[in-house]
Order: sequence, then C-alpha cells, then structure tokens
Amino acid sequence: MDFQKSKSKENLVRAFAGECMDGAKYQFIIKSCKQEYKFLSDILKTIAKNEMAHAGIFYKLIVKYGKNQATNIDIKAGYSFEPLELLTSLTGSLEVERKESQKIYPEFAKVAKEEGFLDIAQAFDSVAADEEHHVVMLTQVCDRLKNKKLYKCDKETFWCCSNCAHHEMAKEAWKECPSCGFPQGFVMFSLEDRMSSNVLKSPNKNCENNKYSTKNKNNTKKTPQKSNKNK
Ligand SMILES: [Fe+2]
Ligand SMILES: [Fe+2]
Repeated sequence: MDFQKSKSKENLVRAFAGECMDGAKYQFIIKSCKQEYKFLSDILKTIAKNEMAHAGIFYKLIVKYGKNQATNIDIKAGYSFEPLELLTSLTGSLEVERKESQKIYPEFAKVAKEEGFLDIAQAFDSVAADEEHHVVMLTQVCDRLKNKKLYKCDKETFWCCSNCAHHEMAKEAWKECPSCGFPQGFVMFSLEDRMSSNVLKSPNKNCENNKYSTKNKNNTKKTPQKSNKNK
C-alpha cells in the first residue's frame, strides 16, 4: 500500500494533532491547579509529558513513511474546547482519553494492519494502552474532585507528603504537613494502577478501596522526621 494514498497517513496526522492538543490542554489545566492542588498538578504534568511523547511517536512515523512528501498535510478533524475550570476541563480530557483508548486508536490500529503498516498498528495499540492508564487515573481524580475527596475519605486511607514523604493512615489528610510544614496541596492521594483497577468498569468506586491503601495497611508506622517548617 502506498503510504501517501493510505488512510493510515491521515490517521497518523490526526493522532499527532490530537496528542499535541491534549498535551497543550493539560498545560493550561495545570495553571488552574495553583498551590491548593500541587500534587494533582504534578500528575497532570506527567500526563502532559506522556501526550507529547505520543505526538513524537506519531511524528516519527509520518516522517519515516512520508519521506520528503509529508509537508502541508491537510486534515479534517474535530477537537473539543471546554472552559478551563478544573473539574470541567478534566472531565472533558477524561472523555477524550476514553475515546482515544477505547475507540479511535484501536480503529486506527486495525486500519494500519489491513493496509500492511504493522509498526504503525503497533504504535496505535501501544498508545491506546497508555491512554487507558490516563483514563484510570483521571477517573479517580475527577471522582475525588466531584465528591470533594481529594484530601478526605470515608475510611482510613494512606496519605503521603510529596515534599518530604511523611505518611499517615487517616480519614483525612493534614492541613499542614507535621513534618515539613508544606500545605495540604502537597499531599499525595493514592491512585490505583490500571492493572489492578476496576475503575473502567465502575467509575464511582470509593476512594478508600484502592491498591495503595491496602498495600500500606500494615505499614502505618510514621517515619520520625525533623521539623523544618521554615525551609
Ligand atoms: Fe496521548
Ligand atoms: Fe492521554
């Protein structure tokens, strides 16, 4: 199959543009996180970095197959623009991630296989799996934001300071870290990984039923730390 006439060429370009937009949107959302959601903004920075890596994977494939003829490629595609309020924009991004991982990229992979571009198919399958991981994380984040459970749970759960690693089992995270004095926004809430998660099937799963807290249930010992509030 001639790449220039293939559907895979168009799909790669659409995917590249989509990933760039996803990455840019996360950067904009991070700006609404402020100090109050410092740990959340760190998670989003990682996701934004992942999206740019995906864009890079697609870009390289376009260059590889397009040779010198891959300039000025026209595409027709729709992209969504939500207000940059934290929950609204994250919910919008979650839906994009879901579509990419469950529908768009698996379809693109199928087309690439049919057209004989096996490495392109593999790239779409691989990125679809990465996007599924984003779905799992963002589902939990949106659920926690919606239910005001970023720093509170119904049952004892594991909290950890992303600045100094002070950790505790409690229903609610500290307002100010007892060890380093950093504010609540630095508290890490536990996110399930996609291998152990049922989040895709049950988006409203309670935040206390997670792998991290279970794993640390027997590890409630606090590490003695020197107070260093003025750093
Ligand atoms: Fe991505
Ligand atoms: Fe993603």
